[in-house]
Amino acid sequence: MIHQVTPTIHLSPIAPADRDDIISHSQDRELSRYTRVVPYPYPPALADEWIASVADDVSRNGRETIWAIRDETERMIGTIELAPGGRGREHASEIGYWLAKPYWGRGIMSAVVQYVVRLGFREFALERITAHVFVLNSASARVLEKNGFIVEAPLLRREYRRDGQTFDGRLYARLRDD
Ligand SMILES: CC(C)(COP(=O)(O)OP(=O)(O)OC[C@H]1O[C@@H](n2cnc3c(N)ncnc32)[C@H](O)[C@@H]1OP(=O)(O)O)[C@@H](O)C(=O)NCCC(=O)NCCS
Repeated sequence: MIHQVTPTIHLSPIAPADRDDIISHSQDRELSRYTRVVPYPYPPALADEWIASVADDVSRNGRETIWAIRDETERMIGTIELAPGGRGREHASEIGYWLAKPYWGRGIMSAVVQYVVRLGFREFALERITAHVFVLNSASARVLEKNGFIVEAPLLRREYRRDGQTFDGRLYARLRDD
């Protein structure tokens, strides 16, 4: 299913044809710096593993849990995930996202997060959406705050990075307005 977020940005399922875009966008030290899941350098085989794991998630959960963010060219320019909370926590979900660097600072992720949060509350009957953010990631914090998320907890020295350093983070949350 295609979700039209703005006249130029839409979301659709991740496909095997996205492999090259995933590899070229992920080969970015700055993107890796702000995420827990994108290593730098990025091994191309990880893209194949990841595409396969996304397909498994769809069959296990019976719905899309992660989407490709695409522009008018249909090329993948980022991803956004609404990860199910698991058994007994079906009302909750964790949001996670990244955008390729050439597209930063145009309001794209603010619009995508707004769309996906609404989808989660209205279509998936979620009551709670959370996000974990490194304190150094001011742009991501801003995207969440603009979308009504508040800081629920500091996460001191919680994040272990590949270079052996630990970082502080913050747990952001937004509840459904009933
Ligand atoms: C975080 C990220 C998704 C933001 O995407 P984006 O499309 O550039 O975000 P937007 O343009 O919608 O909004 C960014 C906001 O942060 C602000 N911002 C950007 N850099 C900032 C900085 N260093 N300090 C403070 N605010 C900053 C912008 O001014 C904007 O706020 P505004 O609309 O009030 O002016 C993108 O930078 C990214 O993919 N980063 C790497 C991966 C990542 O961090 N993922 C999230 C992990 S929690």
